[in-house]
Amino acid sequence: MKFKTIFEPFRIKSVEPITITTEEERTRFLEQAFYNPFLLNSEQVIIDMLTDSGTSAMSAHQWAGIMEGDEAYAGSRSWQKMEKAVRSLTHCEYILPTHQGRAAERILYSHLGGMGKTFISNTHFDTTRANIEFSGAEAIDIPIQESLNPMLEYPFKGNMDVNKLEHIINSKGATNIGAVILTVTNNSGGGQPVSLENAQSISAVCKRHGVKLFLDCCRVAENAWFIKNREEGQAHKSSRQIAEEMFMLCDGAVMSAKKDALVNMGGFLALKDKALAEACTSLLIITEGFTTYGGLSGRDMEAIAIGLEEVFDEDYLNYRIKSTAYLGNKIHELGVPVMRPIGGHAVYVDARALYPHIPVDEYPGQALVCELYKKGGIRCVEVGSVMFGKYDEEGKLIPAPNDLVRLAIPRRVYTQSHIEYVIEVFEEIIKGKDQVSGFKITHEPKFLRHFTARFGPVEKELEIQ
Ligand code: F0G
Repeated sequence: MKFKTIFEPFRIKSVEPITITTEEERTRFLEQAFYNPFLLNSEQVIIDMLTDSGTSAMSAHQWAGIMEGDEAYAGSRSWQKMEKAVRSLTHCEYILPTHQGRAAERILYSHLGGMGKTFISNTHFDTTRANIEFSGAEAIDIPIQESLNPMLEYPFKGNMDVNKLEHIINSKGATNIGAVILTVTNNSGGGQPVSLENAQSISAVCKRHGVKLFLDCCRVAENAWFIKNREEGQAHKSSRQIAEEMFMLCDGAVMSAKKDALVNMGGFLALKDKALAEACTSLLIITEGFTTYGGLSGRDMEAIAIGLEEVFDEDYLNYRIKSTAYLGNKIHELGVPVMRPIGGHAVYVDARALYPHIPVDEYPGQALVCELYKKGGIRCVEVGSVMFGKYDEEGKLIPAPNDLVRLAIPRRVYTQSHIEYVIEVFEEIIKGKDQVSGFKITHEPKFLRHFTARFGPVEKELEIQ
């Protein structure tokens, strides 16, 4: 299309009001939430960019499907639709429905894992790593070198380092490898895509060593769009065809349907091997549910079947990725340091570079998260030393490699004018950046502290002393 305005390739049929608040009110809400946006109520938020997971707007077709949901315990019509949709996309014979992605991960990795096993990924998502480590196995991330520099422009920063893969398999021994997991797009690595060529090379290495390869495919449609538009020789294929090619390279897939299946809840495990599927099915029945619902309602499965088709609409994908890039590029032009190039589902801001005057142990990422909320009612998440920081023996913080802030964009929820609003808020962020100060943690749980930790502004603490 020759016009440059990015517009939503859909009309709005049903709306949900946004409560507009003042900066004064938000300052109070933030204090009441101990400066942790996870503890805010959603009505206190103007633009919610906490996650793209489970936050999609469903289509009229999906809502109609919801009414068609067959809630039979066994063999429901909706399950048959979901099974058919997942089979035709993944080329896997055995499909296990789960209530969300991590349930599929728990089933698969607790079976393949255990003491002495190693899993290798471009980057394990937190829940993937947690499930692997919980089984007693180890999880090793081997993203390519280029991915380590947030400012470097490189088309497929989500790629896995193939030489390192070969090396780890050789040094650990193929039988000790639980699985290789390719996460598309690479969420923890900035929503960056993996190329088809990289997936092919990884698949070849895995096949040669007899090691299983799984796709963490929750954003596979977005990844396929990047391949179609960035990788040489792929433009003539549809994004759907490209996604199918990716699945054909693997032994199976885990999916959080809360992302690219455009639904609010759901997931699945797709497998090619019968024996593995049988073992996983037993685990599924113990904790998730019977094989034809696995923790989902019939209506959820109906919506997943439809969403998996809709997401591959090229106009939708085009709008989706371009709108995310628009936000990232605009704030970059304003002088906000962002991870380059812009990923599929989110924009990642380098808060350490934005606030060089805030020491890492005063959490520059958390400072930006709080500023965005205070200035504009935007809620997002710190992906840095709050989320991944650890303490040494003396209790000193071992910071994360980066202090990023993720602005994740829910699918089909916000319009281009909401995006323009977010850009305007960033203008304010830039103007006031030198006055912002850091935070101290005042209370934290032992695990996954970012969800419930409490913070206090550094200056306030000084006043009290
Ligand atoms: N794998 C990836 C790459 C993910 O991004 C997520 C979830 C999961 C697995 C787990 O899926 O939430 O359905 O159990 N990511 C969300 C996020 C939480 O905000 O990025 P789940």
